[in-house]
Amino acid sequence: MTATKFVATGIVIHVDTVELGKTGLQISVAGLGCGGASRLGQRLGASTEESIQIVREALDLGITYFDTAQAYGTEEIVGHALKGHRDEVVISTKANIVRTDSRSEQAKSIRSAVEASLVKLQTETIDVFHLHGIADDDYDYCVSEVLPELLSLRDQGVIRYIAISELFGKDSTHEMLQRAKFDDFWDVFMVGFNLLNPSARLTVLPETMSNNIGVEVMFAVRRAISRPEVLRKMIVDASAEGLLDASALDLEDPLGFLVHNAGASSVVEAAYRFARHEPGCDVVLTGTGNREHLRENVRSINLPTLPETDLERLRSLFGQLTIFTGN
Ligand SMILES: NC(=O)c1ccc[n+]([C@@H]2O[C@H](COP(=O)([O-])OP(=O)(O)OC[C@H]3O[C@@H](n4cnc5c(N)ncnc54)[C@H](OP(=O)(O)O)[C@@H]3O)[C@@H](O)[C@H]2O)c1
Repeated sequence: MTATKFVATGIVIHVDTVELGKTGLQISVAGLGCGGASRLGQRLGASTEESIQIVREALDLGITYFDTAQAYGTEEIVGHALKGHRDEVVISTKANIVRTDSRSEQAKSIRSAVEASLVKLQTETIDVFHLHGIADDDYDYCVSEVLPELLSLRDQGVIRYIAISELFGKDSTHEMLQRAKFDDFWDVFMVGFNLLNPSARLTVLPETMSNNIGVEVMFAVRRAISRPEVLRKMIVDASAEGLLDASALDLEDPLGFLVHNAGASSVVEAAYRFARHEPGCDVVLTGTGNREHLRENVRSINLPTLPETDLERLRSLFGQLTIFTGN
């Protein structure tokens, strides 16, 4: 579905929406990531007011999906910025899991985390609640010790949908999600996916699609794709270690081939478009503390897919690799 949105600046932006898996929530395909390297600019010293303006600008641009977490320190900003708009938006947040000695202690711990989020977000219910950055080793513990309390919170209406996010920086082969995808209690996954590591295409997304699990994409751009010097070093190092055949790449500008008249206008644009058009990827998060970037990124996420020749070249270069995360 495509909605057209007019923003105060006079720009007309076409905002696509999508149904988030079995939740049935209709959300914008572009979501605002309130964590990552930017944390709405907080990491680089933005004031609270400046970060609030980023969230409000996102709303003006037609974004209806906002992802935050206790660990990001941005829940209060999101709650404040979205005051008065609660019915128009879907809020996702997360809590890290700290193992405890008993299930009752774990239940208390997760319940008090959810209650703290409710206060900070100024809301009575959390739409999508994630277990945050779960490693494969912690998955069984989460299912046996944490999930029962989440189900109870959901039955009480405190949270609406139950989600899990992976520790993609360390789990670039999606070991945790490759188990979670067979369990029917998850409504939404947060998945690391980008043009340097599209491996979820083969190992996670076929089952999320068949089981109707909603997918939020993180790491679509991240550090490597937003900083040319990081990308160059990563490609040169991987090539020197024999992990990547870079003979067909311009090592000065490894992804420069994506930028041309019939393709993308920048590598960052290409990366957001790449993630957005992958079947099974529902919402693509963009994390930024920069209003110009936010406008560009919403536009990029709503542009058509990349040319098939570029997609084919990406498939042959990175389609079989799981070594990169984009960090
Ligand atoms: N395990 C987890 O649960 C987990 C882990 C990581 C992330 N997440 C979620 O996923 C979200 C998205 O990940 P991410 O924050 O890494 O987002 P991202 O959109 O993949 O990358 C953001 C990085 O790219 C830069 N950037 C954005 N737009 C740009 C542009 N047009 N030109 C140049 N640079 C640009 C940003 O810097 P500027 O601020 O300068 O724009 C920032 O450093 C997070 O915010 C968070 O909500 C979840």
